[in-house]
Amino acid sequence: MRKKIIAGNWKMNLSFAEAMALADNLLDENKEIEDVQVILASPYIFLHPLINRVQSNPNFSIAAQNCSEKVKGAFTGEIAASMLASIGIEHVILGHSERRQFYGDTHSVITAKVDRALENGICPIFCCGEMLTERNSNEHFNVVKKQLEDSLFHLSIQQINDCIIAYEPVWAIGTGVTATVDQAQEMHAFIRKTISDKYSKSTSEEISILYGGSVTPANASELFDGEDIDGGLVGGASLKEEDFSMIIKAMISKL
Ligand code: PGA
Repeated sequence: MRKKIIAGNWKMNLSFAEAMALADNLLDENKEIEDVQVILASPYIFLHPLINRVQSNPNFSIAAQNCSEKVKGAFTGEIAASMLASIGIEHVILGHSERRQFYGDTHSVITAKVDRALENGICPIFCCGEMLTERNSNEHFNVVKKQLEDSLFHLSIQQINDCIIAYEPVWAIGTGVTATVDQAQEMHAFIRKTISDKYSKSTSEEISILYGGSVTPANASELFDGEDIDGGLVGGASLKEEDFSMIIKAMISKL
């Protein structure tokens, strides 16, 4: 069975004390979770203490929000995937639309980051998704297919098996507008079919595909009813312990 995953993307939020308190409260509130993996994607500087924090619960893990496309060397301010691996990081968000829009993460940069992550045994949480104009002109399937082809489809079956995909329609991120379960399910099924056509049906059946974009406790349960929706990548609502715990519980209730 595919892994069910609730990932929180904290983005550039929280102080050190707030981040530790949020993680501690989440660990406290979600001791009994089984069969759902909770991933907290934190700013770089909190990663190491967070890893120590979550060691008590094997269902929790910590992710980075980015990594360098370079291996190592004179790249001031950058963090290599090998450095993340050296502190025990197992996941990294790559291809997020905010990186694509504001930080020049082109297809080739994202592809290189995916390769650096996998070389270091880190699972990419690969984000894809269309802009509103692309959906309105009925280009959304082509856009997402091209994002997959450009940055993932050079991978071997073994490598793609080590990836998580997150469908995040750009128009739904941080806007309060969520894709309907039908819109999300339709795209998730399309992504799975695209992977099946490129690799194999069994490969596509094993890959977890998360939905992201204004997931809240109010809409999580309905979204997780989609048969190809294996969890969520949650931004704003992951910063509130109560809301994020409710989203985790919504996933547990589907198992
Ligand atoms: P949001 O962000 O839940 O605040 O819309 C999701 C994301 O960007 O991963």
